Amino acid sequence: MKKILVTRKLLRSCEEKAQGIFKATFNLNDELYSQKKLIEMSKGCDGILSALTDKLDANTINQLPDSIKIISNFAVGFGNIDLEAAKKRGITVTNTPDVLTDATAEIGVLLILGACRRASEGIEKAREGGWVWSADLLIGKQLTGTRLGILGMGRIGQKIAKVAKSLGMIIHYHNRSKLSEEKEQGAVYHKTLKDLLSVSDVLSICCPASKETIDMINKDTIEYLPKGAVVTNVARGDIVEDEAMIDALNRRKVYAVGLDVYKNEPNLNTGYLKHPSAFILPHLGSATKETRTAMANLAVDNLEEFFNTGNCKNKVN
Ligand code: GLV
Repeated sequence: MKKILVTRKLLRSCEEKAQGIFKATFNLNDELYSQKKLIEMSKGCDGILSALTDKLDANTINQLPDSIKIISNFAVGFGNIDLEAAKKRGITVTNTPDVLTDATAEIGVLLILGACRRASEGIEKAREGGWVWSADLLIGKQLTGTRLGILGMGRIGQKIAKVAKSLGMIIHYHNRSKLSEEKEQGAVYHKTLKDLLSVSDVLSICCPASKETIDMINKDTIEYLPKGAVVTNVARGDIVEDEAMIDALNRRKVYAVGLDVYKNEPNLNTGYLKHPSAFILPHLGSATKETRTAMANLAVDNLEEFFNTGNCKNKVN
């Protein structure tokens, strides 16, 4: 029986599934392992079922025992893993695509709604009490008729586009390549980031974090947005330069932000915490029972497929 280390607590049924297939070490208290502890714990294991909170950088990967042949990441994103370092050591890295598209797109739409319709301020006011209805109480931005720019029209971007379109938004997107008409569903393609940003009354960031996309939304590119644009991010915090975004919020270049992901999670830039126009969530994209179950089961299946065949369809390196 292959031995695996599961670095974070999974839903019970998924741990039971893993236990039926592997000799698995679980993280009963769901503590965040330091890199040193993760290396220590993986001794004698053949594989690791990791989470996006595990920073598997080159230094950590280089110190993993030789017995580790696969890192099965419990996420669609894999920015927490140095793929090249893993490849050099002959370690396969896999992810969990598809199964979290719907849940993550739902949060993507919530970010758009929450930021545009001033949900944070509304919740605070309702909780404080003492408010009185008035014709100009917390006037927000209406989605109907507003242009939504989608940065990264993959599975999640396409699902957000579909829902946003049903709310009357006009969809534009930028991607490495233009989609087929069937996938575009009437959305307007922009070849450059600048072109997309210049028509994005609301921006939805849906692209993966990679060397090309880190800090893509920065001091310079923010200026391409129309004045008073709304920026939302359901992908990865690394794509946004926080100081520039907070400055843009402060000078009303950006009207509001809706964020589920952050640089250095969970220690997000305190500028967002204090800002009334920041609608912020604690990385809830895939957080539904159905989706977290499907993701964990897929992460287990990826390990099983790899150990049985030496390969895996969800290999990313
Ligand atoms: C969640 O953020 C994921 O990448 O799965």
